[in-house]
Amino acid sequence: MSLAETIPHKLQASIDNIIDNVVPSPWLSEAEKADYIVKIKALLKQKNAVVIAHYYVEDELQALAEETGGHVSDSLDMANFGAQHSANTLVICGVRFMGETSKILSPEKTIIMPTLDAECSLDLGCPIDEFSQFCDQHPDREVVVYANTSVEVKARADWIVTSSNAIQIVSHLMDEGKKIIWGPDRHLGQYIKNKTNADMIMWQGNCVVHDEFKLYELEELMKKHPQAEVLVHPESPEAVIAKADFVGSTKQIIAAGKKSNAPTLIIATDHGLFYKMKQAVPDKLLIPAPTGGKSATCKSCAHCPWMAMNTLVNLYEALRDGTNTIEVDEETRKKALLPLNRMIDFSREQGILTAGDA
Ligand code: 13P
Ligand code: SF4
Repeated sequence: MSLAETIPHKLQASIDNIIDNVVPSPWLSEAEKADYIVKIKALLKQKNAVVIAHYYVEDELQALAEETGGHVSDSLDMANFGAQHSANTLVICGVRFMGETSKILSPEKTIIMPTLDAECSLDLGCPIDEFSQFCDQHPDREVVVYANTSVEVKARADWIVTSSNAIQIVSHLMDEGKKIIWGPDRHLGQYIKNKTNADMIMWQGNCVVHDEFKLYELEELMKKHPQAEVLVHPESPEAVIAKADFVGSTKQIIAAGKKSNAPTLIIATDHGLFYKMKQAVPDKLLIPAPTGGKSATCKSCAHCPWMAMNTLVNLYEALRDGTNTIEVDEETRKKALLPLNRMIDFSREQGILTAGDA
C-alpha cells in the first residue's frame, strides 16, 4: 500500500472514534430558542459582527444568518462573503477549515466559531506531515487540494479547489500540460478524473457523510419515483454519481433544483441543504437519497456530525465571551493565501464566483 492509501486507512479508526464522541446539541424549547436569538442579535450589533453559515448547519442558524444580514452558502462563497463584508467580526457556523479559510483571507478580522471542535473527516484524514511526504515523492506534479483541508495543507498546495470549480481548474492545468497530485477526497478526485481525463494521483480520504450514500437503495427509490431528478454532491461514491442527473457543489445543487422541471428531486448531500432547497423550490417534493439498507454502517445518516455541533447556545457563548477565535500562524497564512487567491481569481474570471455572491 502506498502512503496515500495507508494514512487515511490508519486514521479511519480515530475519525470513527471522534464521531462516536460527538455530543448532541442541547434540546431547547421554542421559547428558549427565541430568547437566545434575541440575545445573539443584540450582540451582533454591539460587536459589529455578522453570521456566515454553511448550508449544512441547523435550520435555526441558517435562519439567524438570513435575518441578520449575514449569509448562507457553500464553502467558497462563505469565505468570499466574509472578506468583502464590512463587519470586523465574522461568526462562522460550519467546520474548522471554513473558519481558517476566512482567517486566511481576512487576517485583520476576528473570526469566531461556535465550537472549535467541529472538524471534517477530509481534513482529519490528511495530516500535513504525511501529505507533504507524499507530495515530495512526486515533485513533478502540481499539488491540488480541496478546500476541506487545514491551513498547513493549503500552504503546501499550488492550487486550492472547491467542488464548484474543481473541473475548470483541473482542465486548465491539463491545458498547461501539468500532472496532478490530488487530495484529500478520493470520490471527488475520481469524479474530476473521469470528467477531465487528467493525469492525477490521489490521496485516499473521504467524507463520512457522502460516503454513506448507497447505490442499491438509490436505484430502488428511483424506481418508486420515475419522474424524479437525482442531484448529487461529488463527494459521493462513483456508483451514486453515475446515477445523477446533476452533480455539483451545494450551491450548484440548489441552482440545478431551481432550473429543473421535475416535480420531485432526490438529493444526495447533507440534509441541512433542505432548508434552503425548500425555499428555492417550495412546490417540489424533496427526498433525501438513502444512506443505506439492512447492511448499512451509517455513522452520519446524511448529516455531518461536526456541522451539527454548531448551536444557538455555543454561538451565543462564543460571541458573548469572544472565545473560540481562529488563530493562524502568519507565515503559514501567507503561504496558503497564494493558492487561495489563485482559486478566487480564476473562479471570478470563469464567472463561477461573481460579485453578486457576496
Ligand atoms: P461545498 O463546497 O459544496 O459547500 O462543500 C463543502 C462540504 O464540506 C461538503 O461536504
Ligand atoms: Fe467534511 Fe463531509 Fe462534514 Fe463536509 S459533510 S464538513 S466534507 S465531514
